[in-house]
Amino acid sequence: MNHIERRPRNRTYLMCPPQHFTVEYAINPWMDTTLPVDAALALKQWQVLRDTLGDLGHLVHVLDAVPGLPDMVYAANGAFSVDGTVYGARFLYPQRGAEADAHREFYTLQGWKFSGPQHVNEGEGDFAYLPGAYGGLVLAGYGFRTDPAAHAEAQEVLGRPVVSLHLVDPAFYHLDTALAALDDRHVTYYPEAFSAASQRVLAQLFPDAVLADRADAEAFGLNLVSDGRHVILNTEATAMGEKVRAAGYQPVHVDLSELKRGGGSVKCVVAELRQ
Ligand code: ARG
Repeated sequence: MNHIERRPRNRTYLMCPPQHFTVEYAINPWMDTTLPVDAALALKQWQVLRDTLGDLGHLVHVLDAVPGLPDMVYAANGAFSVDGTVYGARFLYPQRGAEADAHREFYTLQGWKFSGPQHVNEGEGDFAYLPGAYGGLVLAGYGFRTDPAAHAEAQEVLGRPVVSLHLVDPAFYHLDTALAALDDRHVTYYPEAFSAASQRVLAQLFPDAVLADRADAEAFGLNLVSDGRHVILNTEATAMGEKVRAAGYQPVHVDLSELKRGGGSVKCVVAELRQ
């Protein structure tokens, strides 16, 4: 598929600066509370990512960071929007609970149609959208954070088919650590992060997917943001960069070493707003 012309589409994103970023609790296997975080470096790296998205022609909204919410920089977890409708988040861990309120306020002030959730779900951490696949398809992860009941709820709120995928490896606790949309219809994923049955579902839906290996996933190479042509991924994920290049995309590497300490990278800190 490398001879295909990969066209970018202008996107609107939401990011939240790591002003109050720390690792003071551990809710995923990557977080180590005994190592100090370099807050100034985290902020610098975040700014480079924001500028990179801006330089590529995308609009980036910024949500004010709230003191006492050290994980709020992972803005992808705050909600999930499809065609102007927002399905709000409900965090599993109480430490992050109040982040959902800040995101809800952002969307309601901007005039979005916002639907508050009954079930635990961590926004774009566990939901991905492919507008060009099967008329508009939602992929949804469960097993660590999002309650599978939220998948059915999202389908009712958004009116799009939702395919439930079972995550089985605690290192890849959110869908966006194991799978990413490369454009409107193509995905890349690390098969072993999913149950055998979910691997079969993915192979059936996406026979032409770019497959990643464990080293790619551990380098957070799947935690990428793509505009359909430019694939932004962290500097460590060099092999993954070459895989997306071979598939016709243009890798753009950014260093997010500090933010990986909280268990996230590029995608975790960027929410896409789909009008
Ligand atoms: N420390 C955060 C947590 O464990 C990291 C969230 C990463 N976000 C993501 N979209 N995968 O909740």
